[in-house]
Amino acid sequence: MPETTWWKRGIVYQIYPRSFQDSNGDGIGDLKGIRQRLDYLMWFGIDALWISPIYISPMADFGYDVADYCGIDPIFGTLEDFDHLIEEAHAKGLKLILDFVPNHTSDQHPWFQESRSSRANPKRDWYIWRDPAPDGGLPNNWISNFGGSAWEWDEATEQYYYNAFLKEQPDLNWRNPEVRKAMYDALRFWLNRGVDGFRVDVIWHLIKDAEFRDNPPNLGFQPNQAEINRFLQVYSADQPEVHEVVSEMRRVLEEYPERVLIGEIYLPLERLVTYYGQNLSGAHLPFNFQLIHTAWNARQIAALINEYEDALPEGGWPNWVLGNHDQPRIGARVGPRQARVAAMLLLTLRGTPTMYYGDEIGIGKVEIPPEAVQDPWEKNEPGLGLGRDPQRTPMHWDGSAQSGFTRGRPWLPLDPRYPSCHVEGLRNEPTSILMLYRRLIELRRQHMALSIGRYKPIPTEGDVLAYERQHKAERLLVALNLGEKPHTFLLPDGATGRVLLSTGLDQGGETTGAQVHLRSDEGLIIALQG
Ligand code: NOJ
Repeated sequence: MPETTWWKRGIVYQIYPRSFQDSNGDGIGDLKGIRQRLDYLMWFGIDALWISPIYISPMADFGYDVADYCGIDPIFGTLEDFDHLIEEAHAKGLKLILDFVPNHTSDQHPWFQESRSSRANPKRDWYIWRDPAPDGGLPNNWISNFGGSAWEWDEATEQYYYNAFLKEQPDLNWRNPEVRKAMYDALRFWLNRGVDGFRVDVIWHLIKDAEFRDNPPNLGFQPNQAEINRFLQVYSADQPEVHEVVSEMRRVLEEYPERVLIGEIYLPLERLVTYYGQNLSGAHLPFNFQLIHTAWNARQIAALINEYEDALPEGGWPNWVLGNHDQPRIGARVGPRQARVAAMLLLTLRGTPTMYYGDEIGIGKVEIPPEAVQDPWEKNEPGLGLGRDPQRTPMHWDGSAQSGFTRGRPWLPLDPRYPSCHVEGLRNEPTSILMLYRRLIELRRQHMALSIGRYKPIPTEGDVLAYERQHKAERLLVALNLGEKPHTFLLPDGATGRVLLSTGLDQGGETTGAQVHLRSDEGLIIALQG
């Protein structure tokens, strides 16, 4: 595989389809809406869009509860709309990645309807059914990721079924070969329509312990945490046999040229990297969420980049994620000044960056009034700040009512700050965060050092994070000030430099001496000379 295959050098942009662009006034974004915004995405400069699930779904978990893997939910449009979208995206040189949700279906999926109809049904074993424990209690102590027991009693057939998320999302039994075949056929259905790859939902969950042993208690559990953290997830996920499934999926994708397999995996680094698989037969990109979970601190981030680089298997391609529909937005976590530094970090690290729609216009913390809450997790475990609605609010396009997102009533409220933070306005502000993102993307495209170049940490102290990226004769230095105090530092090896970009967008082309000055909250990209 050449070093420059598209998913290695390209930038992935996640669209939460309910919130990107509504075309029919129902207040929910849709496929035609995305199509209307392809020119924006081209102008912006990304390479691939990943769309969260658009399949037929009762929407108990907003599309992550699939009732038909080979159909488009009417909320989002039709298969024809999808074909138009992919055709137009491809014509514009954009790749399209779909979300694939194999761990569970909707309880409305015909497979589950059959499975629950009787113990003798041929699809009974497609899901995970268990008798009560000998004392009549739950089969084991496994907790749902959204709180409460993960076991749901089925009155008619007198067994429990397992659901790692909502009770409306029963887990499939991936030990059953028929399930695998059906799901691989669903992948082929979309691959045949031209899809360029998949982001696979909770891929590390697919196989559970064959004996369904109790998870051990988590002695560090705090009452303000989600209930799932009461136990360490030793037996309910990340089982050795899952790697066979991941490599089978990979082989399905390999029936087609240049497709990418991305795995959603929340695990510590040493476990995460096992998902590259034996001899890289697993996921091309096991999603790396470390930047989301590490404190915004130069020393800790410097250490984490080194640990990640060291942990990667030979030939395993790195990747970095700054936000998604499940995690508080970067703007909310670090504030508007550091959000610019974060953009420079994401787009200058070695490996494929995945960015989240709306971060480029600096959407920050959005308050969701109680009556507007949509997320089932917030409803199940209220008041702990677990709700994911704040990061799912609609995109801001212009200064009109509802910011051009919809003619109707949006399904989630917009950030009330939208009148001063929307694409149209920020495009005309030369130093806006939108223009910074765009310039970073452009630079990354122009300088191979930034995408595929070698990564070398530069020792620094305090709030400064610095590293060098090198490709052939080109050496670029990235220096990021994660603090509010200005800093001065020496370029490596006595080199001098030329500033390519400042996060302030007010420098470019200046030559530097051996010493460089970083203003508060500033990031610089400097071409090293000599
Ligand atoms: C991970 C998805 O990103 C999240 O939104 C969803 O609720 C769960 N998986 C369950 O599918």
